[in-house]
Amino acid sequence: MSETAKIILEGKEYELPVIQGSEGEKAIDISNLRGLSGYITLDPGYKNTGATTSTITFLDGELGVLRHRGYSIEDLAEHCSFIEVTYLLLHGELPTAQQLAEFESKITEHTLVNEGLEGMFKAFPTGSHPMGQLSSMISALSLFYPKSLNPHRGEEAINRTVLRLLAKMPTICAMIYKKRLGHPIVYPNNRLDYVTNYLNMTFGQVSDPDYTPDPVIVRAMNKLLILHADHEQNCSASTVRVVGSSQSNLYSSISAGINALWGPLHGGANQEVLEMLELIKEDGGDVTKFINKAKDKNDPFRLMGFGHRVYKNFDPRAKIIKKAADEVLEKLGVNDPVLEIAKKLEEVALNDPYFIDRKLFPNVDFYSGIIYRALGFPTDFFTVLFALGRLPGWISQWQEMRRDKEPIARPRQIYTGEPPRAFVPMDQRK
Ligand code: ACO
Repeated sequence: MSETAKIILEGKEYELPVIQGSEGEKAIDISNLRGLSGYITLDPGYKNTGATTSTITFLDGELGVLRHRGYSIEDLAEHCSFIEVTYLLLHGELPTAQQLAEFESKITEHTLVNEGLEGMFKAFPTGSHPMGQLSSMISALSLFYPKSLNPHRGEEAINRTVLRLLAKMPTICAMIYKKRLGHPIVYPNNRLDYVTNYLNMTFGQVSDPDYTPDPVIVRAMNKLLILHADHEQNCSASTVRVVGSSQSNLYSSISAGINALWGPLHGGANQEVLEMLELIKEDGGDVTKFINKAKDKNDPFRLMGFGHRVYKNFDPRAKIIKKAADEVLEKLGVNDPVLEIAKKLEEVALNDPYFIDRKLFPNVDFYSGIIYRALGFPTDFFTVLFALGRLPGWISQWQEMRRDKEPIARPRQIYTGEPPRAFVPMDQRK
């Protein structure tokens, strides 16, 4: 007999179904509880609430396990290119060589951005935040492809939008980087693979057509993007699904995801990590002083890049990226006092009982920020790279939400405000 949960409310017993996932994780299905009893459940921040069933990503925060479509993140990061993982997330299976070649070729048909969009981009103030520019540009894509807005137009139309997004995202990210430097835009080179093309548009120069990125950097970039490709129902993925659940178009849903990612408690943490390290350096480099600040409950300072909502032992992505960070730093021969502070901070925090007791470990943002800095990316650009990596995950989550015909997301609340009261005319208000 299938397992059920019993709940007693005001002396009346209700039996609720228990759902079991393919990895044995269990949930009480409360979707009918309100209809049966008038009660809702309360869970601010959804710390204990499953918003959906999903076949894309499995993670176990206690064991530090992360798998996409059943494949371990360790295997994917070691053996695949980012675009292969993108295919896997979108289609559910690893591609054959032919499928991958076709997929890459279809993407290259859409890598240019419309001149009109470029005109709009030029009007953005030079110092504006790259994430604001990115979300605006992705939202603006919807203005240039009005026929593809209806999520019910059929798989072919949706697939074209998916390819457009995948193709234009690296071009737009590189445009944002070049604008910051005041350099001319390098156009996409469709003979290059996805990641090399992105690096070429970013670090290449119009005046140097022979530029080729170092293979160590291409490999590290592929890894970084793979490690960010999806992370199940996090803040930005949930945002994409929530926005998409109103049957809003894919561009607007992804743009909303980018805005959710921007925040310092989510993707914005990688920028905050480097800003924190700079702050420690400028303050004289006393790491212990800042560890003590992070431990002080009366001080709002937090050690950015430490802790995670679900990983409570270690972040498997952090392990992989730490190795890649070491490789990149060695290859580039970087000697940076800020990175020395990062190493010291990691060592002190990992041995401090406050961090050990609360299971606070360096997360993926701690090390990704270090690599991005070594590669020469400006600090406020880091979250754009996270978004570039997360794009296939967001699209897959949106597709799953749409194909599963999920209802519009509409949480409930418990009202704790004023009871009904008599209206007070203006001249009697105090
Ligand atoms: N520095 C100092 N103390 C911390 C930190 C930190 N970075 N993170 C958590 N704590 C403490 C809290 O003060 C709390 O202590 P208490 O139990 O004595 O009150 C305890 O650890 C639990 O923290 P919560 O905030 O309840 O944990 P939660 O799971 O809600 O938060 C979060 C996770 C938001 C990631 C948090 O650890 C944090 O703010 N970290 C820094 C920001 C960061 O790196 N974010 C990136 C996340 S990874 C990603 O988006 C890819």
